Amino acid sequence: MRPLLIFGATRGVGLELGRQERQGGRRVFAFVRPGSESGPLSDLGVEIVTGDALDRETVAAAFGLVPEGAEVVSTIGGRAADGRRADDEGNLNLITEAQRAGGIARFVLVTSIGCGEMAPFRSARAIAVFGEAVDAKTKAEEALRASSLAWTIIRPGGLLSEPATGQGILSTDARMHGFIHRSDVAELIRRVLRDPATIGGAFAAVDAGSARTVNPVEPFPLAGAPAR
Ligand SMILES: NC(=O)c1ccc[n+]([C@@H]2O[C@H](COP(=O)([O-])OP(=O)(O)OC[C@H]3O[C@@H](n4cnc5c(N)ncnc54)[C@H](OP(=O)(O)O)[C@@H]3O)[C@@H](O)[C@H]2O)c1
Repeated sequence: MRPLLIFGATRGVGLELGRQERQGGRRVFAFVRPGSESGPLSDLGVEIVTGDALDRETVAAAFGLVPEGAEVVSTIGGRAADGRRADDEGNLNLITEAQRAGGIARFVLVTSIGCGEMAPFRSARAIAVFGEAVDAKTKAEEALRASSLAWTIIRPGGLLSEPATGQGILSTDARMHGFIHRSDVAELIRRVLRDPATIGGAFAAVDAGSARTVNPVEPFPLAGAPAR
């Protein structure tokens, strides 16, 4: 198994991904801001790399530290005190430095339902509440699509912190919406990393039980069983 570098591993989907991959015996690195919570990651045996996605030098240093052939997952998001966003600027730094470093086997970017070609199908409420963040994430998606990296984009629906259902699905339907548990998003990321057919794809991620669309629900046929 290739080493994995996670940006956004202190909480939520990123932490759950680190936990699941460590349980599977994988070598995992986490890029963590100075002062952010790294104790649970260290307890899992995750190797901590300190830095801030908005500080390009620290991002470059992180890519210099991880072994050749590593895979990368970014779940970062949010706004810093000075107004800059990890959603666009932070992820753009990761994409630029990953290419500069070379030797990155996969790059999985976690954004949001409503990004990219899904934008025309957003509700007025979704635009009012999440529009700015989603538009910033779309900028990162566009940079990743234009990159030389072996990329995959995963766009979760509304995130819930509940135990996994094992019913998470990926969909290329631009009108898909719904909810998904963070632990199921982590599981889908693991399957995506193990399925080369997902390279160059952008997928909504929802729980099959909450998938809502005007179209027939046609999950992307991920290879392999759910990674438990
Ligand atoms: N909430 C929803 O319903 C929803 C729906 C769809 C998509 N999403 C997106 O899905 C992703 C995962 O969400 P989540 O709720 O599981 O996680 P989250 O709570 O949004 O965690 C964000 C992670 O990004 C890190 N981060 C933020 N800015 C950073 C920076 N400048 N440098 C390094 N790390 C930085 C945070 O670290 P710190 O501990 O240092 O803050 C944290 O680990 C996010 O991108 C989110 O926007 C959320």
